[in-house]
Amino acid sequence: MTTFWQWYDRCGRTAELDWLIVALTPLTLLDLRLRPTKFDHFDWQMLDQLWQRHCHDRVPVQYLAGKTTWRDLELKVNAAVLIPRPETELIIDIVQARVEPQGKWCDLGTGSGAIAIGLARSFPQIQLWAVDISDSALQVAQENIDRYDLTDRICCVQGNWFDPLAPGLEGMVSNPPYIPSNMINSLAEVVKQEPLLALDGGEDGLAAIVHLIKEGKRFIRSGGFWLVEVMAGQAEIVADMLSYHDYKDVMIHRDLQHIDRFVSGFVP
Ligand SMILES: C[S@@+](CC[C@H](N)C(=O)[O-])C[C@H]1O[C@@H](n2cnc3c(N)ncnc32)[C@H](O)[C@@H]1O
Repeated sequence: MTTFWQWYDRCGRTAELDWLIVALTPLTLLDLRLRPTKFDHFDWQMLDQLWQRHCHDRVPVQYLAGKTTWRDLELKVNAAVLIPRPETELIIDIVQARVEPQGKWCDLGTGSGAIAIGLARSFPQIQLWAVDISDSALQVAQENIDRYDLTDRICCVQGNWFDPLAPGLEGMVSNPPYIPSNMINSLAEVVKQEPLLALDGGEDGLAAIVHLIKEGKRFIRSGGFWLVEVMAGQAEIVADMLSYHDYKDVMIHRDLQHIDRFVSGFVP
């Protein structure tokens, strides 16, 4: 009979396999290194079925586990939402460094609700609108918001960017789709399992960002904060567009890999 460790070796150790095992079993990463004999007979059949789906259908391990970690959160994810990325975690720190958030904020294109939840937990004095055009994404966001007991502070609304909101917001954050349409086909197969709505930023990747720059001036109060995540190579263009539209104190922020990843400014 194949033991757990024989199965593990047969799969060929990878970070994804370790992640899936740790997410779905009592084993820790240390167990996977030290291989205590008490796990020799651990039932690996269910893991094997999931792992085969990852290998053959390229389903991301986070979708297979139905969850992911982001900052200090454990969030539900499924194929309706983008898997929140580690670099996006910095959005919360940038807000903290640039403003003392008050009043009503919005997270546009909220997906799993990661950014809205992160902001609400870091800044107890704010209220948030979590907007997404996808109803099925909003269902996931709502479950995550319920889980962190934030229903009285974060309100999920379905719609196109600012459209369902009233003017007078104090701040906006967004990680919009920003990949140029013609690059979508060249993405890794696992990334292509994520919703096209979450990835495709139109011909030059900037369609949503241009919209958020123009509409930001209508929906965010003068002096309010505006921040987006962008793709590598887009930050300078976005910063120039913000300046062209008279946004103040425009800044480009790097992620931990030193890639220009975020652009922020204040509404004129
Ligand atoms: C890159 S994902 C970001 C998800 C989440 N905020 C995160 O950082 O993990 C972009 C999100 O924008 C949403 N979206 C796309 N077009 C939209 C639109 N016109 N209005 C509102 N949301 C939209 C997608 O459904 C998706 O959830």
